[in-house]
Amino acid sequence: MKFESLVNPTVLKQPVYEPGKPIEEVARELGLDPAGIIKLASNENPFGPSPRALAAARAALEHGELYPDGGCFALRQKLAATRGLAADQFIVGNGSNEVIELLGHALLRPGDEVVMGAPAFVVYKLVTLLFGAKAVEVPLVQHRHDLGRIAAAVTPRTRMVYVCSPNNPTGTANSETEMLAFARAMPEHVVTVFDEAYAEYVEPTPDLRPLVREGRNVVCLRTFSKIYGLASLRVGYGYAAAETAALLNRVRQPFNVNAIAQAAAIAALDDHEFTAKCVRENRAGLARLEAGFRELGREFVPSVANFILVHVGDGLKVFDTLQRRGVIVRPVKSYGLPEWIRVTVGTREQNERLLAELKRALG
Ligand SMILES: Cc1ncc(COP(=O)(O)O)c(C=O)c1O
Repeated sequence: MKFESLVNPTVLKQPVYEPGKPIEEVARELGLDPAGIIKLASNENPFGPSPRALAAARAALEHGELYPDGGCFALRQKLAATRGLAADQFIVGNGSNEVIELLGHALLRPGDEVVMGAPAFVVYKLVTLLFGAKAVEVPLVQHRHDLGRIAAAVTPRTRMVYVCSPNNPTGTANSETEMLAFARAMPEHVVTVFDEAYAEYVEPTPDLRPLVREGRNVVCLRTFSKIYGLASLRVGYGYAAAETAALLNRVRQPFNVNAIAQAAAIAALDDHEFTAKCVRENRAGLARLEAGFRELGREFVPSVANFILVHVGDGLKVFDTLQRRGVIVRPVKSYGLPEWIRVTVGTREQNERLLAELKRALG
C-alpha cells in the first residue's frame, strides 16, 4: 500500500511551515555570493550570538560524546536564580517551538478549540491542526491583539488561548496590566499561553510572573533565539506552575535540548552587556527604519520588537526584487498581509542597505 493511504488523514491536511530562506539557499538559487547577502527575514540577532554563550558552547563541544542532561538541571537552576521563580517552574524545549508542541501533546484532543489572534505566529495554528483541534482565529484590531475579542471567542470547548506579545508578524504588544487582567479572568478550563519570544526588547518588559505565583493556568514562553542570538542552537523555555511544568516534562523526548545549547543558554543569561547593547541598537534601528519608511512615503506598523511591518504594495514582488539584490526579507502573504513585508532590524549598515534597496525596488 502507498504510504499516503496509511497515514493519519490529519497529516494529509497539515499545512507546511515556510521559514525564511537561508543565505546559502538564496545564493545557490540566484547565483549570488553568500558573503554579500544579508538576511533580515527571521528576526534573528544581527549581532550574532552572545559572546559569553559562544565561549560556553565551544567549551561544551569538548564533551560532545556524552548525552546531555535531559532534565536541563543547571539551566533550570540558572533560570530560577535569574528570573526569581523555582527551578521546577521551568520546562526547557528545543526552541520555544517545541514547548508549543508539548502543549499540544499534553492538552489537545480532536474537537478542542484553541483561540489565537490572526495574524499571529503561525506555529500555534499548525500545532493545533496537527492534533485534530480547531484553530479559532480572532482578527487583530489595528494590528494588535484585542484581548476583549479574544476572551469573547472562548467557549466550553476552548482548551487553550494564545496571546503573542510582542506579536509576530506585527511587532505590537499588549500591556502588562491588560495581560494580567486577561489571564485572571479566563475560565478555569482554559490554559492561557503568553508567547514572549521578543519580550526582552520591550522597555520595560511586562512582568507576567505574578500569574505563575498565583497558580493560574498559564504558560509563558521565552526563547534564546532572539535577544541572546542562539537561534541555531534551538533552546527556549516555558515558565508555569510546577505541576504544569511537570506534566509538560512527561511528553518531551528524553534528550530534547543538546548540551551545547544548555551551556550557551546558561552563559547567555549572564551576558547583560550584550543584551543591553542589542536592546539599544534595536531601538535606534527601529527609529532609523521608521524614518526611512516615512521618507519613502510608506506606511508601517510601529513596533516594539526586533522587526517591523512595512506596506510596499505587492509584498511578494518587492520580496523577490530585494532578494535578487541580496537582501532577504519576509513576505507576509501567508499571514494575510499580501501588501506588506516584514523586515528584521539589522545592524546600522544592514538597515541602510535595506532602505537603499527598498527605495530602488519601489522605484
Ligand atoms: C512569536 C514567536 N514565538 C516563538 C518562536 C519560535 O522560536 P524558537 O523556537 O526559535 O524558540 C518564534 C520564532 O520566530 C516567534 O516569532
